[in-house]
Amino acid sequence: PKKLRIAMMGLGIVGGGVWRRVAEHSDRFEIVRVMVRSPEKYIDQGYPEALLTTESADLFAADPDIFIDVSGPIEPALQMTRDMLDKGVHVVSANKQAMATGGQALLDLAAQSTAQLLFSSAAGGGMPVLEMCIREKGRIARVEALLNGTTNFMLGEMDKGMTYDDALTLAQDRGYAEADPTSDVDGHDAAAKIRLVSLLGFGVELTPEQIERDTLAQVDEKLKPGTILKRVARVSGDTGKLVADLRLRALSPNNFLAKADGEDAHAVFDFTDGDRYVIRGKGAGRWPTTESVMADLYDLSNATP
Ligand code: HSE
Repeated sequence: PKKLRIAMMGLGIVGGGVWRRVAEHSDRFEIVRVMVRSPEKYIDQGYPEALLTTESADLFAADPDIFIDVSGPIEPALQMTRDMLDKGVHVVSANKQAMATGGQALLDLAAQSTAQLLFSSAAGGGMPVLEMCIREKGRIARVEALLNGTTNFMLGEMDKGMTYDDALTLAQDRGYAEADPTSDVDGHDAAAKIRLVSLLGFGVELTPEQIERDTLAQVDEKLKPGTILKRVARVSGDTGKLVADLRLRALSPNNFLAKADGEDAHAVFDFTDGDRYVIRGKGAGRWPTTESVMADLYDLSNATP
């Protein structure tokens, strides 16, 4: 197949992983430009200066086939995603905040474009949560999942006696946390993923305010002997009335979600006909998320003559 030209925004934990994996697949893909905020930092790390830019216009000028968004903030990511789709450039996004904010209008824009919008890495890391939502839309009664690897890891370490601060530092060192980890512990990261589950699995757009959240600071009041504390993202109901929340729940040790350790992320899908699917996988970190991005890239490559 044709070698696809990639313009990328972001070169952090996931971006650095994508850079390396794309280099291993240079028969199919080529990164032609990367937009970052501080090129000096990356030049010091050995990235080629000529490929780095701070200007979004340079990404468009590079005439890419694919735009990969592995940046964190909503903007300029969302506007660039819209503009790339308008120009017929495929978008592969790991940016959950931008995808959740773009919502149905962004999906509609993508549907009208000749290009595709893929974002399987935006929720669940290496776990196919969003793929399942897309495939089973209309048949799902309830989703319960652990959608933030940082807090799941922290809860496990705190249960073993580590302090909150040390557990957070370790989660950052391991590459699970967002650049600003407030978003992990206060639940904004998981809330964006819940909005994506609602949108893709139920066809319902939720605002962040519609999702009741427990923060990690509430751990002490929720602890119960003989249980395992998890912060569970739950979406249930139907298109008419959907309820979504992110709650610290004291689970029985036999509960499937209770068995997810560290950055593992489990999800349970209950269907309207009584069927139940469970998924397990790695929910955060460089390589699981990178593999999700690579899967989207391969889907695009395989669909290109
Ligand atoms: N900070 C996120 C998490 C990364 O901890 O789950 C994966 O989206």
